[in-house]
Amino acid sequence: MISQHQNDLMTHVGPGTAAGTLLRRYWQPVALAEELAGPRPLKALQLMGQELVLFRDENGQLGLLDRDCPHRGADLAFGRLEHGGLRCPFHGWLFDGKGACLETPAEPAGSKLCTRIKQGAYPVVEKSGVVFAYLGEGEPPAFPEFDCFVAPESHTFAFKGLWECNWLQALEVGIDPAHASFLHRFFEDEDTAESYGKQFRGASADSELAITKVLREYDRPDIQVEPAPYGMRLTTLRKISEEQTHVRVTNLVFPQAFVIPMSSEMTISQWHVPVDDTHCYWYAIFTSFTGPVDKQQMREQRLATIELPHYTSRRNKHNDYGYSVEEQLGATYTGMGTDINVHDQWACESQGPIQDRTREHLGTTDKAIIAYRRLLVNAIERTQAGEAPPMLPAAGQTSTFTGPPSIDGVALAHKASSYCQDADLERRRKSDWASARLAA
Ligand code: FES
Ligand SMILES: [Fe+2]
Repeated sequence: MISQHQNDLMTHVGPGTAAGTLLRRYWQPVALAEELAGPRPLKALQLMGQELVLFRDENGQLGLLDRDCPHRGADLAFGRLEHGGLRCPFHGWLFDGKGACLETPAEPAGSKLCTRIKQGAYPVVEKSGVVFAYLGEGEPPAFPEFDCFVAPESHTFAFKGLWECNWLQALEVGIDPAHASFLHRFFEDEDTAESYGKQFRGASADSELAITKVLREYDRPDIQVEPAPYGMRLTTLRKISEEQTHVRVTNLVFPQAFVIPMSSEMTISQWHVPVDDTHCYWYAIFTSFTGPVDKQQMREQRLATIELPHYTSRRNKHNDYGYSVEEQLGATYTGMGTDINVHDQWACESQGPIQDRTREHLGTTDKAIIAYRRLLVNAIERTQAGEAPPMLPAAGQTSTFTGPPSIDGVALAHKASSYCQDADLERRRKSDWASARLAA
């Protein structure tokens, strides 16, 4: 049973909160690179309750600053991108991407005021179409060498979407393997050849079995949770027959991401990033082990359900997620369409802005969620006591944080325990970019 105190401890993320202080010690996605396209590469954003402004200066350097001008608090999101930085339109003070004040043009000639002004600024780095920022104390950690960061740019595609709920419940749906047999159930299997770019619609590897059939017909999974250097590895087994076992291996990358298989060729690395305590963005990097990703098709598929400029879902609580009685009776478990992201969004948002965990009743299939909450609370307590944040690669040892293997396939029952390792190696050997790393 989770107490109200524990629930608050895990979910609140504003400056100075326990979980917020911990999450700030890890790189966080803050924008898609595509959001800085166009004639004025600047974006106002909110992250863990902090108001920030992200921009690219004339030299292409990224900067992330506190949004309120240190002079008298005007909004830098309306600033002018010129002269090597961002200029406040109120009195013309100019700041570079590191927060240094370069000019205070209305002050008397020879004024030294600038030298005493420092705007809050945060390190930023662009990886695979996503801008990551570090808002914590001290130096930012090294970047892990996960597949989504080391695959060539042509083989990744990034996108995001807004959910109106706390980040923790959004994360917890990703470490809940049982829900896929219910929430994402389709009463009929479509042609798996039509599944490009979609989750839970293809065939499991090493079989002709549609994943929709596996999930629907084998709905009592055996879930195993093991610790991993980066977080946790989940192995979910569904017994198909005496000879065959469906194996699905997914990963929790501490503190807020998971890496899961999307198809035999692609994986999804997905972060759940708090905007504030009651809103979060999912950021996903899709990584292909075969050919280049068809970015245009992936983007068009997602724009069918997600609306710019804020990446909000067209199906949402204001229109009952497009719920249809006929569809629920005849086609899908939810009656909310075929995009599984909408199903997950409904599940998480319907738990409330912050799920009241004092009233929940967890079962055996919630074991990864229970294990994760232990990791989180433990990490909060240890970092509060002055220890280094856990599950980060040490400097110079980023190559120990690779993969992580994430697989969905059908194994011979007696080989189920080694299936993930074998299938992952096989996939890497056949992949141009991943095989080069195997050899290295
Ligand atoms: S408030 Fe920004 S320069 Fe005066
Ligand atoms: Fe789901």
